[in-house]
Amino acid sequence: MAYNKIEVKPISGALGAEIGNVDLSRDLDNETFSDIHQAFLDHQVIFFRDQTLTPEQHKAFARRFGSLNVHPYVQGLEGHPEIIEIVKEPGDKVNFGGGWHSDMSFLEVPALGSVLYAIEVPPYGGDTLFASQHRAYEGLSDGMKALLDGLKAVHSAKNEYSSSGHSAQKRESMKVAVADGYVGEYLHPVVRTHPETGRKALYVNPAFTDRFAGMRRSKSKPLLDFLFRHCTQEAFTCRFRWTKGSVAFWDNRAVQHYALNDYHGYRRQMQRVTINGDKPF
Ligand code: SIN
Repeated sequence: MAYNKIEVKPISGALGAEIGNVDLSRDLDNETFSDIHQAFLDHQVIFFRDQTLTPEQHKAFARRFGSLNVHPYVQGLEGHPEIIEIVKEPGDKVNFGGGWHSDMSFLEVPALGSVLYAIEVPPYGGDTLFASQHRAYEGLSDGMKALLDGLKAVHSAKNEYSSSGHSAQKRESMKVAVADGYVGEYLHPVVRTHPETGRKALYVNPAFTDRFAGMRRSKSKPLLDFLFRHCTQEAFTCRFRWTKGSVAFWDNRAVQHYALNDYHGYRRQMQRVTINGDKPF
């Protein structure tokens, strides 16, 4: 794919590209924006280095792609409810996002994408892994594709944000609210067709996909466990090493991600803006 205003360097065979020649703090001209949008669709997750963003600039970049989400369980920055701060303090043992997931698949209209900005990074570790769910779908046998096409699955925040859930363990350091009351459940297709590219992607993730529609959890488990293992195979992934000022922008309709927790004793501070999807699918 040819780009006029930006440099695009893929970082793996499956997905992910580093973008050069862009200052995200500026009001992007339409040609640069269109190149970035195309690179996002071509590579599913794109990375920018050495950026300096105020909360307003961070939100302004994300807003070019859609309206911004206010997280139902994580309190946003003061004055900027759309920005959540993802922090692991030197004394913390648990990190946020430390399991494969697609952001906000537990909503009726799941997120389009997320823009994560690195404020402080540990001297080693704290990388983020991404897995292409297009590659995961394309890597299934024809028989499995035929079985899954047309199936729906139930997504919910209840396991992740209930008092024993992984994310809820960040309730003190990140002001995460615990979801022990009624938590909504929403049906999404197991195989999604990307609304912009028409490419198919698997859309189940271990954090938020509870069971297949019309099937008990225990009966759903064997096939879901197979899919969870399949969709994060090494060949479908890339890994991003953060430096201060890096920005990652990923497509939640096409990737899952996993924040590694291998830097105990060091601080990591990121800010994330999440872009709403535009319709149920
Ligand atoms: C997340 O959005 O799940 C966090 C990713 C990260 O901190 O690397």
